[in-house]
Amino acid sequence: MFDLTPSPDSLDPIERASIDEIRSLQLERMQWSLRHAYDNVGHYRAAFEAAGVHPDDCRSLDDLGRFPFTAKEDLREHYPFGMFAVPQDQVSRIHASSGTTGQPTVVGYTRNDIDMWADVCARSIRASGGRPGHKVHVAYGYGLFTGGLGAHYGAERLGCTVIPVSGGMTERQVRLIHDFRPEVIMVTPSYMLALIDEMERHDLDPTDTSLQVGIFGAEPWTNDMRLEVERRLDMHAVDIYGLSEVIGPGVANECVETKDGLHVWEDHFYPEIIDPESGAVLPDGEYGELAFTTLTKEAMPMVRYRTRDLTRLLPGTARPMRRIEKITGRTDDMIILRGVNLFPTQIEELTLRTPALSAHFQCHLRKDGAMDSLTVRVERRSDASPGEAAAAGAELADHVKSNIGVSIAVEVVEPGEVARSAGKMHRVVDER
Ligand code: DLL
Repeated sequence: MFDLTPSPDSLDPIERASIDEIRSLQLERMQWSLRHAYDNVGHYRAAFEAAGVHPDDCRSLDDLGRFPFTAKEDLREHYPFGMFAVPQDQVSRIHASSGTTGQPTVVGYTRNDIDMWADVCARSIRASGGRPGHKVHVAYGYGLFTGGLGAHYGAERLGCTVIPVSGGMTERQVRLIHDFRPEVIMVTPSYMLALIDEMERHDLDPTDTSLQVGIFGAEPWTNDMRLEVERRLDMHAVDIYGLSEVIGPGVANECVETKDGLHVWEDHFYPEIIDPESGAVLPDGEYGELAFTTLTKEAMPMVRYRTRDLTRLLPGTARPMRRIEKITGRTDDMIILRGVNLFPTQIEELTLRTPALSAHFQCHLRKDGAMDSLTVRVERRSDASPGEAAAAGAELADHVKSNIGVSIAVEVVEPGEVARSAGKMHRVVDER
């Protein structure tokens, strides 16, 4: 694999600033953001007053803990534009995420917001190993979803050549990768696997592509999946995180030289880890739910937005800004099976450690009399025999029992039988 470490002088100055400089910039910006939210969004004014706090009460970063959380329900309640802090003629873009309940979550951006977003996405692509002049194949969906346009503006800002393919039409994706020879691909990790399978179906050797780095996000994926993709494609696999409520992709990103968790671009997004039950702020290093306060966003400031994503905060390494560990999963994706909590990422990890099984799997929750049961449907690898695969299924069930402490059923199916998704993969199918 190529050494793609960016040169220090190509970084934004703030990426090399001291912790003290970062903290003092954050405090100044946090005070502005709380004031902006309070002055211009009825919801925040009411919520701050109900909690007995005022923007002037924020004198240190720790004071943020006195302010109320914002939840997805607040955005739903003020659907579509009630959380906007600027008049509509200053909103230059709207995005929305579909959500599971049908009502979309709507977010807005001013021109400055779009500009900041392009900057953090450019920074993310550079941290991943992309550089000016690289061709970037964007296979995240374009449209109301933030993935496609976020990646697009970031790649343009960095000085790359953008190939705006969007998601879907798998065969065409493979042809374009072959013909246009991009160095960088931005896509969900699950769809990358589908692209690799498609390459193999066309007798193309995935290790022969021009790709040097894949920037994968929008869904949880594990370090075992990284090894799988890096092995099959002979390229770097780097993690990008974000959510529409906060901006879109580019809230945090791994550095290609360390691949040890995602640096949060803390000059724009202030992270906290909280206890999902009590809401108490937890110290760095402890696992909990991630919450964000935007520090510079104009159209839709977010104060302590509860992401429902589970991870922990770690000190900076390749950059001074803190890292989040790879996301374990969302509180909503947690499976509680006969009292035991488990996440699809744990299944992914154990599946990939079972040589005859592929990374294409889905978790089916069923009712078995009065009890809940979990069946993992997983494809055998195309180079494993059906006999090897059946034994591997039993082995996976054993691994789950001994590592997670709960009995599950495993159904090993033929390659191609687990549904593919051109975007985010739904790992959990609730059939109860
Ligand atoms: O998924 C933005 C995005 C697009 C990020 C492309 C990265 C790449 P939403 O549709 O609002 O926005 O979904 C946000 O997706 O709260 C996480 O649960 C999940 N998610 C996003 N990135 C990651 C990641 C986009 N790298 C929700 N690892 C978030 C794990 C992720 N989960």
